Amino acid sequence: MFTNMRTLVARHRCVLLTAAGTFGLLCLLAVALSSRFSAPSLNQITPTVTLEVNVSDPGRQMPATLFGLFFEEINHAGSGGLWAELVQNRGFEAGGQDTPSIFEPWYKIGSDAQVIIGTERSSPFNRNPVALKITVLCDNGDENNNKCPKGGVGTANPGFWGMNIIAGSKYQVEFWLRSSNTFNLSVAFISANGAVLTLEIVSVDGKSNRDWSKQSIVLTAKSTDHYARLSLTTGTKGEYWIDQVSAMPTDTFKGHGFRKELATMIADLKPGFLRFPGGCYVEGVRLANAFRWRDSVGDYENRPGHYGDVWNYWSDDGFGYFEGLQLAEDIGAAPIWVFNNGISHWESVPTAEIGPWVQDVLEGIEFARGPVNSTWGAVRAQMGHPDPFPLLYVAVGNEDCEKPYYRGNYMEFYKAIKLMYPDIELISNCDGSRGPLDHPADLYDYHIYTTANNLFSMRHSFDRTSRVGPKAFVSEYAVVGADSGTGSLLASLAEGAFLIGLELNSDIVEMASYAPLFVNANDRRWNPDAIVFNSWQQYGTPSYWVQHFFKNSNGADLLPSTVKADSSTSLAMLVTSAVRAHNTSSGSDYLIVKAVNYGSNPLNLNLEVSGVSANRFNATESYIMLLTSAGLMDENSFTNPAKVTPQVTKATNAGPSMEVALPAYSILALQLGLNTINRSAEEVVQITSRKSLRQ
Ligand code: AHR
Repeated sequence: MFTNMRTLVARHRCVLLTAAGTFGLLCLLAVALSSRFSAPSLNQITPTVTLEVNVSDPGRQMPATLFGLFFEEINHAGSGGLWAELVQNRGFEAGGQDTPSIFEPWYKIGSDAQVIIGTERSSPFNRNPVALKITVLCDNGDENNNKCPKGGVGTANPGFWGMNIIAGSKYQVEFWLRSSNTFNLSVAFISANGAVLTLEIVSVDGKSNRDWSKQSIVLTAKSTDHYARLSLTTGTKGEYWIDQVSAMPTDTFKGHGFRKELATMIADLKPGFLRFPGGCYVEGVRLANAFRWRDSVGDYENRPGHYGDVWNYWSDDGFGYFEGLQLAEDIGAAPIWVFNNGISHWESVPTAEIGPWVQDVLEGIEFARGPVNSTWGAVRAQMGHPDPFPLLYVAVGNEDCEKPYYRGNYMEFYKAIKLMYPDIELISNCDGSRGPLDHPADLYDYHIYTTANNLFSMRHSFDRTSRVGPKAFVSEYAVVGADSGTGSLLASLAEGAFLIGLELNSDIVEMASYAPLFVNANDRRWNPDAIVFNSWQQYGTPSYWVQHFFKNSNGADLLPSTVKADSSTSLAMLVTSAVRAHNTSSGSDYLIVKAVNYGSNPLNLNLEVSGVSANRFNATESYIMLLTSAGLMDENSFTNPAKVTPQVTKATNAGPSMEVALPAYSILALQLGLNTINRSAEEVVQITSRKSLRQ
């Protein structure tokens, strides 16, 4: 599918405008008619550079996976982010499986004289033994002594820095309960200032709840608050146990539990792949705290959760291995599973003892790909996905190349996986860009976090790498430090230039993704990030928006192009590429020219297109997309989310010879629609030969 620039920018704005994130016709019209976008005007005294492109050149097809995403559980990206679960610490296990465990952010409603709460190992779930015991000392019927306060006593959970409860929306609330009392339990969403947003009274019959039972209700919010809490209260004296409390909006992305606005933002990037779930998160500081796939699948009640000791927060693992595979499918991306290879930041399992780890990973692959009658394929099917997930890439660890036993362990995984799954491509942690690897691999992982100027110059990193051997996977790149702040225009321009460099080298670079993808603004563990959110808002940093310039590159043809200027004009700060993309739904071709002006001087860009007749240019399907801002360090924010976002205008002058202004410090894309009709006989011959070249 091909997405035009205006639609994509419009979609984001509509997402910002509508709570549901639905891309409505009215919104489209509003954006299309908006006068906000004004084309940059040409300046007669600014230097002109000419870019020559032959659009009928066969070019070189770029990988369909070239630009994708890296999702890591960092900054509450999943837990308290993309995973729409509103309750934090649903099983009261955040302090581990011994008691007293940590039950925060749950807290007590009522005074010490009215209620006592504490953790106990009395859960019905053997993989999650801790439950919360609530002892109510007050009673509504006790007129004289210890009468409960209005609303009752019990416990409340504020979620992840407040729950986003929207009037009219529905929330599925589930929890497990045990008590031999007959009583009324109030289940409510309460606003930050104490107003009841919605309330359901559950009548509990003591006889049937002596043993644990699951309660499940749907609450419809009557009013809105972005910082609400879930409360469970009663006014009846007695002992109560609760466990595994969940509150999910019923409206999630594709119905799979992903927060809609956040998932839409990443789907809008048309990612070719999704690398997950880390990052250092996969390694752990200690192996005991590393992410382990088998603990993150199956019923949520029996997922033990774990403390991610690299980014220092507890995760209930609602977003687990299955959810990563499901998300990849839902956003149309190829899944890339990064697994732990027996190495954490501090420990390395010796190769002689790595066998069980290899077996664990083979079973993880069986979970993704095995038939429904296989042990782990059956678990996947039970979770609602009988069809295998197309897992074709796995990464053996993260940033572990120089750690003890990496090569030995890698080889054990490599041999076992290739034997059972010869079509799976393996990704090594060792950098193959400087010389040949000393072990077999299909791809090698390459991470770069650096200054803006350095990343700008690194657009040439792969110009001279060997074209034989494994392909490069630039799975983490970003400008960091003073040049980026929490997401600056400057950083995004350097990244844009770097990505053009990757396009030009896409015969050897197969994949690239920015890192990290998400940050919950309430718990920034890493700066900068592509998408910033809180309980109810979200915006893209300039680094997010630059990725939109590359979303039509996956699988497109890179065309040779030449830049010319008169001798007095420096081209040192200009980086360009030209690609021909095909829109399968309309059948049309598009010529997309990108240019980063990393310098302080504006330029006029003169585009000269050959190999196509003038009547094939379709001005109504041609757009100019420009990202720039008044200040180099400008950032977006919750109060001004669209400060540094692409401006889209129609390219009314679309044709074989056209000029466009390229402001200082900007990235520009010209997307020119080319009609399929009226092709000259010569073009038909050229395109036919291009197709046969690909067969
Ligand atoms: O993206 C943040 C971290 O940077 C990743 O977890 C790690 O792979 C890298 O060091």
